[in-house]
Amino acid sequence: MKVGVLTNGGDVPGLTAAVAETMRTLRRAGAEPLGIRGGWSGLVGIAEGASLGDVTVDLDEGAAYALERVGGSMLGSSRTTLEDPRLREEVAAACMKVGVRVLVVFGGDGTLTSAADLSEAGMTVVGVPKTVDNDVSATPVSLGFATASDRAAGMLDAADDTGRTHRRCMVVELMGRGSGALTLRAAVSAGVPAVLPERPPSVEGLRRMLEERPYGAVAVAEGAFGWEAGREGPAPGHAAARLQAMLGRAGAEDMRTTVPGHLVRGGPPSPADRWLGRTFGRAGASAALELTSCLLASDGAEVWREPIGRAYEAPSRLAEKQLEDAAGLVVG
Ligand code: F6P
Repeated sequence: MKVGVLTNGGDVPGLTAAVAETMRTLRRAGAEPLGIRGGWSGLVGIAEGASLGDVTVDLDEGAAYALERVGGSMLGSSRTTLEDPRLREEVAAACMKVGVRVLVVFGGDGTLTSAADLSEAGMTVVGVPKTVDNDVSATPVSLGFATASDRAAGMLDAADDTGRTHRRCMVVELMGRGSGALTLRAAVSAGVPAVLPERPPSVEGLRRMLEERPYGAVAVAEGAFGWEAGREGPAPGHAAARLQAMLGRAGAEDMRTTVPGHLVRGGPPSPADRWLGRTFGRAGASAALELTSCLLASDGAEVWREPIGRAYEAPSRLAEKQLEDAAGLVVG
């Protein structure tokens, strides 16, 4: 049985470990895992006439072991979507024609929606959630979130040290268009204030924050101020610049801005994501071998299956209670 394995959307630490374990488990069970190059764009290539060999990454088991500790995805990724129903039908038909009826798909909310669409089109599809934004609503924890928040917390620690030494406000903009999950986790870990999309900041709120903490790091999620019409996402630095202007109105004098951006997504996975990657990989391969379409979910300890249709749910946002519980660090 041929099983296509692919990673689509933004990369996360732990993806390579997850893919390696998926392929290894499938191979040991006698299936033929095919690492599809470049996410959905690899399958679109098949629909456009490419051969399976043209779009697959050849990885033997030994190489997969060696790659386990590295960041990124050894299969590559793309931002291609299968939103167009005709393209989706063509992709499903082309996959069936070359004997790939089963897919294990690693993705965030957009990719997993396309995965659910393909299962509607007759394929067996196992969706595995991975996003540093941690906003796939069917799962409390997505692959990559643990490493990205560890890394972001380290950056906030460093910004806070230098900010307090020089009596400056250090604005640090972190990824997260719609969800402040990464910013909140990192800010609470570092013990610094957080500005999030879920709670629009006010000059008054920032003034109160400055009374308590006139210097040091302030974390802001990139989507905290929305973004300009016509753009798919916020331009890097947009939220930091907006926050810096507001902080100026609130009384801050000396300020600096840092935008770590993609640095939280690359690099080696933490032990938590190596473990989750392997566990998701094994569970994904098992569901594929059972020909069961589903969406995997985890709380960071257990992994379980949810119906693939849950991929259609809107991305999750932090609940009011989580904002209230955040050690008083969310600035409103
Ligand atoms: O979707 C995950 C994410 O990391 C967002 O937080 C961020 O806005 C976006 O990806 C950046 O995407 P790209 O890698 O295409 O620049």
